Amino acid sequence: MADNDKNPHECPDTGHEWDGITELTNPPPRWWIIALYLSGLLVLVYFILYPSLPLVNDSTDGLLGWTQIEEYKENLAEVEAKRAPFEDQLAAMSAEEILEDEELRNYAVGSSKVLYGDNCAACHGTGGIPPEGSGYPVLADDDWLYGGSVGKIVETLAKGRQGMMPAHKELLTDEEVDQLVQFVINRSEGQATDAGWKLYNDKGCVACHGPEAQGIQQLGSANLSDKIWRFSGEPDEIRHTILHGVNDTNDPKTRIAVMPGWNEKLAVKLEAEEWDEEPEYDGTETQRLSETEIKKLAVYVHQLGGGE
Ligand code: HEC
Ligand code: HEC
Repeated sequence: MADNDKNPHECPDTGHEWDGITELTNPPPRWWIIALYLSGLLVLVYFILYPSLPLVNDSTDGLLGWTQIEEYKENLAEVEAKRAPFEDQLAAMSAEEILEDEELRNYAVGSSKVLYGDNCAACHGTGGIPPEGSGYPVLADDDWLYGGSVGKIVETLAKGRQGMMPAHKELLTDEEVDQLVQFVINRSEGQATDAGWKLYNDKGCVACHGPEAQGIQQLGSANLSDKIWRFSGEPDEIRHTILHGVNDTNDPKTRIAVMPGWNEKLAVKLEAEEWDEEPEYDGTETQRLSETEIKKLAVYVHQLGGGE
């Protein structure tokens, strides 16, 4: 380069030599020196403009007053401005209407992931699949205790759910329990015997699980006619359910199955709509999730598995 056009042989050397190669003392090229000083200057400028020197509890502020939090807040405001039109639309629509509209459905699903992770995944697992044996229902299949229409899911989320099966340990002999365990297994394989059906009917199981043992969604009673188990298909676990029931407060060994409610106000409103009445709020209703958040989550859960 222009700075470096001296004949290397005329240049003084440092006296170091390896295998005939001598180390010279020519200065570094000027462009390089300029770049070095410029970058030093740039550090100084940044040092003055931005927070830099760490102090005991804080750091120097810098002339621009920039902070990461401010930048984050600005970004957040930008995202919220983009979301606002969607959120306004969702607020005015029913969950069914959101499901019908592809763009809004995608938006609802996308923005539910965090909501689901924060509020639901602890029990229902990531993607609606809880760890086996956890006692929480899978949301990613098309087997529904309470119904898989998006409207029913909204209702489940607003009100919460708590299926109730009484403990039968006082009501059945050991032999009858054995026979009913066998009946439940046979039924799941489509091979129930007449004697099994008779016991199922006589002992009142039919009242909650229905004439075909397919469950009754108003009660959230499990479908016993398929191989999708609410708790477990192991004979000992089936026996446990029959003996101790579900959410039977009189039996300390009962299975606990409580889905918390997320919006009492919406629950009151849905209840009133069902009876074609005006909702009567008493002002103490809690809303752990907003109505719009519930609609979004219902759409999300609906598309996780086979919604109905
Ligand atoms: C504390 C644990 C817990 C949390 C948190 C929880 N659930 Fe549940 N959920 C349950 C249990 C238990 C049931 C089953 C209730 C029953 O068996 O009667 C259930 C039932 C459901 C059902 C009904 C499934 C069916 O087959 O009909 C849906 C839908 C559901 N939950 C969605 C959610 C969503 C969405 C959230 C987050 C907002 C959530 N749950 C948070 C425990 C939980
Ligand atoms: C008062 C209503 C009621 C009666 C009576 C009743 N059940 Fe249930 N049963 C339920 C409900 C509700 C559930 C689901 C609970 C839940 O998921 O929260 C259930 C769950 C079960 C399960 C668990 C199924 C699975 O997939 O893990 C079995 C097995 C069962 N019942 C068998 C019986 C048998 C056998 C009888 C008769 C002796 C009977 N039930 C009587 C309401 C009832």
